Amino acid sequence: MIPDRLATTNPDLRLRAFTTGDAGAVFDYWRSDAGWERFNASVPRDFTLADAKAFVEEMCGRSRAASPNWAILYDERVVGVVSLVFEQGHRLAAVGYGVHGGIRGAGLAPTSVSSVLNSAFDCYPELRKIRAHTDPRNTASHRVLEKLGFALEGVLRKNQYVKGEFVDEAIYGLLREDWSSLEDR
Ligand SMILES: CC(C)(COP(=O)(O)OP(=O)(O)OC[C@H]1O[C@@H](n2cnc3c(N)ncnc32)[C@H](O)[C@@H]1OP(=O)(O)O)[C@@H](O)C(=O)NCCC(=O)NCCS
Repeated sequence: MIPDRLATTNPDLRLRAFTTGDAGAVFDYWRSDAGWERFNASVPRDFTLADAKAFVEEMCGRSRAASPNWAILYDERVVGVVSLVFEQGHRLAAVGYGVHGGIRGAGLAPTSVSSVLNSAFDCYPELRKIRAHTDPRNTASHRVLEKLGFALEGVLRKNQYVKGEFVDEAIYGLLREDWSSLEDR
């Protein structure tokens, strides 16, 4: 099983499983960037603390074998999330991530996701590919994926219905061999 506690290359940055006590910190993180949830179909536009509680409970309730997730801790404060959803008996996976609006641009997302990718490829030798689905307008997210060696594989037109509008969906992919050949991981 993939560990629920992960170190990163940054000594101030680590990951651990969510606990039900994290809802307040998640609410703060969500509130730190007005409008970020336009890229996230599962978070309502006018989210409340109750929505953050429901999110944390859902994260805590997920199977760690099938869909593990981690709270990102920076200086011991919960500032974000990384999640994986495995498919086809751990041969494929999809990754998601986000960090607090007040500490963006410092490489915390790529460093956190890198630790998760290392662990996933180590833990599951059968894992061949990790995908990420993003909004084509989400340039910050695309930069994270590019830094991690993902390639843009295509854009599906009007493929999601998010907050009342149909939006395109960019699909990025990372093969095991892409990850092995990446120097800085
Ligand atoms: C996408 C996201 C996770 C990136 O996290 P991060 O820790 O800031 O990642 P990085 O530091 O590598 O920065 C990535 C890009 O964000 C942009 N960026 C830089 N500083 C920034 C700032 N202060 N505020 C916002 N974006 C900034 C830059 O384009 C940067 O690319 P660069 O390093 O080539 O200049 C973060 O912006 C976020 O949480 N967004 C909202 C949730 C989301 O969209 N998640 C992804 C869904 S698919």
